[in-house]
Amino acid sequence: MHEIRIAIAGVGNCASSLVQGLHYYKEVFAKGKEVIGLANPILGGYAPSDVRVVAAIDIDKRKVGRPLHEALFASPNNTKVFYNRFKYPGLKVQMGNVLDGVPGHMAAFEEKKRFSVGAKPNATHKEIVKLLETSGAEILISYLPVGSQKATEFYAECCLEAGVSLINCIPVFIVSDPAWGKRFEKAGICCVGDDIKAQVGATITHRVLMRMMHERGAKIDATYQLNTGGNTDFMNMLAHERLGSKRISKTQAVQSQLDDTPLPPDQVHIGPSDYVAWQKDNKVCFLRIEARGFGGVPLNLEARLSVEDSPNSAGEVIDAIRCCKLGRERGLAGPLTAVASYTMKHPPIQYTDYEARRLLKDFIDNGKPAKRKTRSRK
Ligand SMILES: NC(=O)c1ccc[n+]([C@@H]2O[C@H](COP(=O)([O-])OP(=O)(O)OC[C@H]3O[C@@H](n4cnc5c(N)ncnc54)[C@H](O)[C@@H]3O)[C@@H](O)[C@H]2O)c1
Repeated sequence: MHEIRIAIAGVGNCASSLVQGLHYYKEVFAKGKEVIGLANPILGGYAPSDVRVVAAIDIDKRKVGRPLHEALFASPNNTKVFYNRFKYPGLKVQMGNVLDGVPGHMAAFEEKKRFSVGAKPNATHKEIVKLLETSGAEILISYLPVGSQKATEFYAECCLEAGVSLINCIPVFIVSDPAWGKRFEKAGICCVGDDIKAQVGATITHRVLMRMMHERGAKIDATYQLNTGGNTDFMNMLAHERLGSKRISKTQAVQSQLDDTPLPPDQVHIGPSDYVAWQKDNKVCFLRIEARGFGGVPLNLEARLSVEDSPNSAGEVIDAIRCCKLGRERGLAGPLTAVASYTMKHPPIQYTDYEARRLLKDFIDNGKPAKRKTRSRK
């Protein structure tokens, strides 16, 4: 069958943008319009419209039990609606297992802006495995909140049992964790992760600028990347205790571009910085790099990037999904390192973005495995 069946865990803003995009590009292709916003309009023979959502899981009472096309636009989701002419009458969002998905500090915010769990009992491991199996899902996309360590592990275990691939878009280290990677390999299932890298986001912009200065001989002394936004992702990340792996993921993504000369830890500050409600899903990144050039003369660079956060990651997820399907067709097991190095902030192996793009192209065209380079630090 020429389709890719996916399940989604976490029907938040990113899921909304992804599903809107699947239908938006279906219309663009059908009407022969110019394809804007995709690096790979067709990838391995698959168009975005070949991706079909067959199951969706959440824990919010405004989403669980509702058809997917309604849940995607329910509060507290607040991303831009760029396409809504689609329906999923037979696909209702199923209750998941809350575990550590909902942080306590959110209770201080008005309900329409935060997560709100209903009275439905948590789904068991057995129930989620059954949902994955009966829906025919081939790949589970994890869009859980940052800090959901236990919930991510719960859904990863379900994937292992159901034989479903995992695309882990969040900074909980599963695919880049050697022990988990091995488990997927042993189970004969391919996976991609961790922490999706947006199309033109703060991470790739910061990486490319740092790499350019490093390669051109400038000595980088210090850098920061401060990010603000007004979605539940940013509200969630007000809790610093949930942020450990997000900071590691974002910082390591940038430090990896400096070869063997990373900055001392107190000379680099990268992470989500504040929740500004009126920004909604608009994310603003302020970045600064201080360096010395020829003759040791100081120079510095300041940039401000403003993006709609959720659609910005959906294009990379659509590529990761189609590559994961190719991996399944080729019988590959374990982490797809080339795919992860291009699409994820914290892949099992870090490359420069130029190398990662070449490796991704090789993977798509020839199925060549990526050569090992430097393992991500945890
Ligand atoms: N936007 C981007 O470009 C980008 C980039 C990198 C990583 N991410 C990550 O992707 C994830 C999703 O982002 P988002 O903006 O869609 O977040 P979001 O807050 O809009 O959505 C999270 C969803 O997960 C649900 N949820 C919470 N606990 C759950 C559980 N235990 N089981 C099932 N569902 C649960 C919530 O109800 C909510 O619907 C976040 O971790 C974010 O950091 C996003």
